[in-house]
This record gives sequence, structure tokens and C-alpha cells, in this order.
Amino acid sequence: MGFNNEGADVIAERLKNWREKEGRQNKKLPMIIGGNIGKNKVTPNEEAWNDYAVCFNKLHPYVDYFAVNVSSPNTPGLRELQEKDSLKKILLNLAMMNNAKAVAKPVLLKIAPDITPAQLDDVIELALEIKLDGIIATNTTISRAGLTTPIEEVEKMGAGGLSGKPVTERSTAIVKYIFEKANGQIPIIASGGIFTAMDAREKLKAGASLVQVWTGFIYEGPAIVSKICKKLNQ
Ligand SMILES: Cc1cc2nc3c(=O)[nH]c(=O)nc-3n(C[C@H](O)[C@H](O)[C@H](O)COP(=O)(O)O)c2cc1C
Repeated sequence: MGFNNEGADVIAERLKNWREKEGRQNKKLPMIIGGNIGKNKVTPNEEAWNDYAVCFNKLHPYVDYFAVNVSSPNTPGLRELQEKDSLKKILLNLAMMNNAKAVAKPVLLKIAPDITPAQLDDVIELALEIKLDGIIATNTTISRAGLTTPIEEVEKMGAGGLSGKPVTERSTAIVKYIFEKANGQIPIIASGGIFTAMDAREKLKAGASLVQVWTGFIYEGPAIVSKICKKLNQ
């Protein structure tokens, strides 16, 4: 699979045009844009840091923050980049480039729900050490546990990440673990199985500062955001 898209040059150009157009109409841009960056499928992991650097540089002027994606199950080997040494190389290089820009952009790390406990401890330690702006927890899961669809059918569907309800509990547990282990010192954006205000509240209770909806957006439509916000504020 890999990340099928038109490439960083095309995306950067599109975002640039959008900013110019919106900037002319409104003083303030109507949306926050996060640049989600990952390595190409064909790039060996030892050279992955350079793919992140290329995407980072091209998108930097046009996004508000970055999500460093080392957690998609759809690019072979990508999740191995969650190992401390690989992560350190990628993130320190991005921090160096970021600090050299006129305006630094927040850089967040997006992790997998299937991360091992040892890897998660390493991520937290590293995030505190290098003063990472935050962690996005979590991406989709490779687990097929707890599904009602018969296993033969699930297997026929093939590999790939599972999103929505099946990832809810695991992602909440990871948010809670990071919050407690880091004494609330790492901002957390929670992602995974948020469909309702109650789901969002669970993530906030676990220690998240912000939440993201993805699958919920598909099933509930764009109104999901105002519905959740209204309920949360009641
Ligand atoms: C079709 C699809 C494509 C996705 N693509 C990306 C991606 O490119 N980068 C990334 O970090 N996460 C990606 N994700 C993960 C989502 O951003 C989200 O973290 C995950 O699905 C859990 O949240 P949800 O249960 O609200 O969907 C994708 C998820 C789906 C379902």
C-alpha cells in the first residue's frame, strides 16, 4: 500500500493556493491544517529520516503543525521507526530544521495502538528529553480482536489498519498511560473511535488536551464536530 498521494510538491502547491485565496477573503484562516508526513514505501528505513525532512521542508510554510507518522500499518516497516534510535534521528533532525525557520511549527508524533510497552516508555522518555510538542495517540490497529465478523471473512479482507470502534479502548488506554507516566507534561491529541461527545469526554478524562475524529467523520458527516462540541459544553 504505502501512502498513495500526489506527492509533497503537489500538496504544498495546493495548500499555498488555498492559503492565498482564503487569506484574501478572511483575515484569519478558517481552519487549522496539520501536515501528516511519512516515508515512501520504497525508501529503506535507514534513509527514512530524509523523507520526513523533505516533506517537512516542502510543507512547512503552509501548515500549522506537523504529525510525524511512524504508525501507519499500511506502509511496510514504517512502525519499526517507533524504535528509540530511529525516532531520535528523525525527530532531532526535524527539530534542528524547525529551529532554523523564522517561525517554528509544533511537531507531534503519531503512535500506533499496537506499540509495545517498552517502545511506549521509550517514546515518552524521548518526548520529554527533546521537548516534543505532543503525541497523537493513536493510529489504526493491526489487531483483529473483538470483531463480530467471522474470522475467515476478516482474513479475506487482508492486511491493513482497523479504525473506529475496535480501536477505542486501546487508544484511550494509551492516552491514559502517557498522561500518567509523563505527569501531564506531554500534550496529547487523542484519536481512535470517537463518534460521540461521550467518546470525546472519555479521551479528555484519560488526559487528552484535544481530540481528532476520522472514522466518525465518515459515518456521522461533518456535523459531528458541532454535535460533539455542543454536547460537551452542556
Ligand atoms: C482510510 C484511512 C486513512 C488513514 N490515513 C492516515 C494517514 O495517512 N496518516 C495517519 O497518521 N493516519 C491515518 N489514518 C488514521 C486516522 O487518522 C486515525 O488516527 C485512526 O483511524 C483512528 O481514529 P478513528 O477511529 O477516528 O478513525 C487513516 C485512517 C483511515 C481509516
